[in-house]
Amino acid sequence: MASDQQKNDTMEKIVSLAKRRGFIFQGSEIYGGLAGTFDYGPYGVALKNNVKQLWWKRFVLDREDMFGVDADILMNAAVWEASGHASGFSDPLTTDSKSKKKYRADHLLEAAGVDIKGMNIADMSAAIKERGIKSPEGNSLSEVEAFNMMLKTFIGADVNNPAISYLRPETAQGMFVNFKNILDTFHPRLPFGLAQIGKAFRNEIAPRDFIFRLRELEQMEIEYFVRPANWEESFEHFRQQMHEWTKDIGLSDSHVYELEVASEDRAHYSKRTIDFEFDYPFGRKELYGLAYRTDYDLKSHTEKSGVDLSYFDEETKERFIPHVIEPSFGVDRTILAILSDAYTEDEMGGETRTFLKFSPNVAPVKIAVFPLLKNKPQLVEKAREVYSMLKKEFGAVEFDDNGNIGKRYRRQDEIGTPFCVTIDFDTIEKDQTVTVRDRDTGTQERVAISELKEFLVSRF
Ligand code: GAP
Repeated sequence: MASDQQKNDTMEKIVSLAKRRGFIFQGSEIYGGLAGTFDYGPYGVALKNNVKQLWWKRFVLDREDMFGVDADILMNAAVWEASGHASGFSDPLTTDSKSKKKYRADHLLEAAGVDIKGMNIADMSAAIKERGIKSPEGNSLSEVEAFNMMLKTFIGADVNNPAISYLRPETAQGMFVNFKNILDTFHPRLPFGLAQIGKAFRNEIAPRDFIFRLRELEQMEIEYFVRPANWEESFEHFRQQMHEWTKDIGLSDSHVYELEVASEDRAHYSKRTIDFEFDYPFGRKELYGLAYRTDYDLKSHTEKSGVDLSYFDEETKERFIPHVIEPSFGVDRTILAILSDAYTEDEMGGETRTFLKFSPNVAPVKIAVFPLLKNKPQLVEKAREVYSMLKKEFGAVEFDDNGNIGKRYRRQDEIGTPFCVTIDFDTIEKDQTVTVRDRDTGTQERVAISELKEFLVSRF
């Protein structure tokens, strides 16, 4: 078992590698940052795009029952009244009596060894008092209050009387409000789903753990509409699909767990929730959620908007409001899980090396091509030729002639490139073969250029 210190060290190493190699930077860094925001650099974007494309392929393109949407972040404030977020989307907040610093009451209680399962705001206030729990600065704490996490914004030029809106806290509502549009334009039969990838915003009291708890995050969500009697079948289907998905992106099965969420801990709209948890370096925490949202959202939008969001079943001639199964995936938590699982240290050639053991599916660079020496034009020319051929086939291919070959391998290992191809003197003077080096084992094989594409395809 890794100690707390080792876990913290691993996290620090991941954050440092992510910055050093251009994956993820602190948001607004040159101004001291902005808590809960991070910017993705070139390799981070490539990794994230691979994840989003794989997700879209599995859950939308490969299916006949899924419809993609891309709804706006800004929505009519009435949406959030109807969804229950205006009144119910909150975290428990407590304030240090002296410093006035704000804390998540549940986090402080957990840190003090209190089991917070099922506790409401009043229970938390009572537990803080009973146990004499202090703030991290050693001061007394205020009563716990419900802090609404939606980020408010103002719309329009009338500054004295602006319209209020919110940056959406979940992408889900963009799909519920488009339910009728999809029914009217595509006439789908139940069961069917809407899928969307997009940003969401939460005014987290305590953003932390790198990209785990953010104020600006990205979600990949599905609202899957079913006949009320069939919800369990679809719930089970997506539960299996979510496990398959974690394999697609290379997460180790033994690091993914299911947690049946107790009724008192479920979101206000859910009758059943399974959290998919992951062993992050800082502990086992929520990666994804699978919820049975019943007809809560469509019913509420029907009541509040006055627009009928029911479905007419041609088979049974019945009209009803469909129920919803919602698999919800955080993109940033996916990236952090992938980085955590891939981060590896070993010894190669008598030296400690660090590498990211990415699945080729998600690796930002699939292949790197090197000329053995930078100052030999024949080598560079041949390497360029091989690079162009591979780039056409595999896309994410990098050409690198900086530093010596050992340094290039180390750099590619650190960004998780599965294969490096080196063009040397044998290539041009002898037999038109190249060296292919495997990231994980460091083994090298000679492969004929004419067979290189097939060789790499077979390895991927
Ligand atoms: N539409 C349902 C919904 O939003 P949620 O459990 O609040 O449910 C879904 O969020 C997923 O979004 C989580 O499982 C997680 O992956 C991601 N997520 C939620 N809050 C986050 C945050 N503050 N930072 C990063 N990811 C977050």
